[in-house]
Amino acid sequence: MAEIQTVGVVGAGTMGSGIAQVFAQAGLGVRLQDVEPAALDRAVARIGRSLDKLVGKGALEAAAADAARGRLSTGTDLDPLAEVDYVVEAIVEDLEAKRTLFATLDGLAGEEAFLASNTSSISITALGTATQRPERVLGMHFMNPVPLMPLVELIRGQATSPDTMAAATALCGRLGKTAVEAADCPGFIANRILMPMINEAIYALMEEVGTADAIDTVMKLGMNHPMGPLRLADLIGLDVCLAIMQVLHGGLGDDKYRPCPLLEQMVASGRLGRKSGQGFHEYST
Ligand code: CAA
Repeated sequence: MAEIQTVGVVGAGTMGSGIAQVFAQAGLGVRLQDVEPAALDRAVARIGRSLDKLVGKGALEAAAADAARGRLSTGTDLDPLAEVDYVVEAIVEDLEAKRTLFATLDGLAGEEAFLASNTSSISITALGTATQRPERVLGMHFMNPVPLMPLVELIRGQATSPDTMAAATALCGRLGKTAVEAADCPGFIANRILMPMINEAIYALMEEVGTADAIDTVMKLGMNHPMGPLRLADLIGLDVCLAIMQVLHGGLGDDKYRPCPLLEQMVASGRLGRKSGQGFHEYST
């Protein structure tokens, strides 16, 4: 199997920009695509700040950061992705939007190219069936913040081939990340376990079992979590948390996955966490 040299990343939000960054740092040519020029500008600025931080704390040589910047190009057009060996999709968590994109990428990409999705909970099998190459479609679920988190969850759709999983596992190794394989079940492994904990923390807040600070402090100091569940929900985005709980609830059919009404209210009122400046805690944006 030829080594993967170039990668396309579709969607330049927080996850897409982090994913583009780690590929560029690992020496791959990266084409970052988004329909919004402003999103690409924000992504380039975010990647620049992250590389500067890594250089500032001695985790990366300044020359390596410059080389990574040089390997990254951006654009609003999908056509250049015809040239890449591997695509990671990181657009909005919407099944129809993703299926449409996968069908387009399938028509565009070389026949050897792999098509991966960074989805946190949408069925990989359903994305594979939008293409003529379901054996080369897989889930590649990065954790936020991508440059710091050492895990990638790899999801095997019903038709994903062992060669595709092997190629993705090898690619994760080149990124310096550990790949863990999960089956194509709602929430995979990460969100099947993490999101009900976050949802329960929101119920505890709603039922006034403790304040947001109290709940976060218990989990941080009592369980040695790097951040409390409410602060983590703010980091992930409350809209994303709600969408994942809805997938778990709908897909597994058990009321233990019912999204907390307080989470629904926060999203309806536009309090989405760190990205909107207000969630369970306040942030200066
Ligand atoms: N790039 C480079 N450096 C970064 C960075 C980035 N994107 N983000 C933070 N840093 C740096 C900070 O500058 C800081 O550097 P110094 O140590 O030199 O000061 C360092 O990382 C630590 O940051 P903070 O002091 O702000 O905070 P922290 O010590 O709490 O660490 C954290 C931050 C790594 C995010 C840590 O709190 C953590 O691991 N939190 C849990 C994150 C987590 O669980 N992620 C998974 C979410 S689930 C998911 O993503 C999947 C899904 O589908 C929902």
